[in-house]
Amino acid sequence: MILKDPGQFRILTGDRPTGRLHLGHYFGTLHNRVRLQDLGVEMFVIIPDYQVLTDRDVADNLTWHVEELVLDYLAIGVDPARSTVFTHSALPSLNQLMLPFLSLVSVAELNRNPTVKDEIAHSRQSAVSGLMLTYPVHQAADILSCKANLVPVGQDQLPHLELTRTIARRFNDRYGNGTAVFPQPEALLSSAPLLLGTDGTKMSKSRGNAIALAATADETARLLKGAKTDAERHITYDPVNRPEVSSLLLLAALCQGRTPQEVASDIGAAGAAALKKTVTEAVNEYLAPIRARRAEYADDRAHLRRTLREGNERARAVADATLAEVRAAMNSHY
Ligand code: TRP
Repeated sequence: MILKDPGQFRILTGDRPTGRLHLGHYFGTLHNRVRLQDLGVEMFVIIPDYQVLTDRDVADNLTWHVEELVLDYLAIGVDPARSTVFTHSALPSLNQLMLPFLSLVSVAELNRNPTVKDEIAHSRQSAVSGLMLTYPVHQAADILSCKANLVPVGQDQLPHLELTRTIARRFNDRYGNGTAVFPQPEALLSSAPLLLGTDGTKMSKSRGNAIALAATADETARLLKGAKTDAERHITYDPVNRPEVSSLLLLAALCQGRTPQEVASDIGAAGAAALKKTVTEAVNEYLAPIRARRAEYADDRAHLRRTLREGNERARAVADATLAEVRAAMNSHY
């Protein structure tokens, strides 16, 4: 359906501004976002800055993190002329949706969100804040304020999307007078295979096992040199029994547009050192143009800030129009 009629869809996607984007993000979702943008799907990219506060007291270096994210986006090919990049703290009308939306969900529903439960279990904070419990409602406001109908997500975000659909349905039922104010957005589940970090666990910025898009070629080489492999010399692609070696093969394959089996058979008996050399070369070659573009944009902070300011203005106009409809539907349009 996207290929046939990209104009039917509006996508909202986003990343919390807590650190630079890495190869796991890139092959998991970023790459696909740019593809969808280039197919002609309208795209909104939110930098959910308030959501950083769900599991910490203060969002450290927030401006820097937000600007680094924008740099990553521009470097991979997000085009601000076609896609709207914005921060949700800059949109009062988006945030105002939070109040009517909270009235549409029960405390029991908020309490049983499995992703939130998991985040609470892993939180470093001693008390659970109201924001932690209610941020999925805030996320519904992100999505519905721009009336996105497609949200690219990983498995962990599905409960939030289900809640968004529930809120849209209940709002329409309660206030719509027979017309739907909100669409019921669909998830676009990533089919991308999971890349592991260099220590063999999930690639994550907080674990120090991730290769950032912005890392230098030398940093990349150093990280991959220390990557975990196994004791078997002959290199084979076997994700179940040899997860670390297989993830490295997959990474090289994604960068080279080949299959991991092909990469494995080229290396064969040459062993883990040859595998790491192959992966390092493949990653550095693939990322070279992205890193060069990123460096160019990084030199022009004024352009960067202008990009974000213009994105915020565009998103604000859309969210303002949505809030006006919500007020009219709720009889609070004075
Ligand atoms: N909760 C998402 C995450 O942690 C980030 C996010 C906030 C988001 N608002 C969104 C993602 C709207 C998609 C759509 O990754």
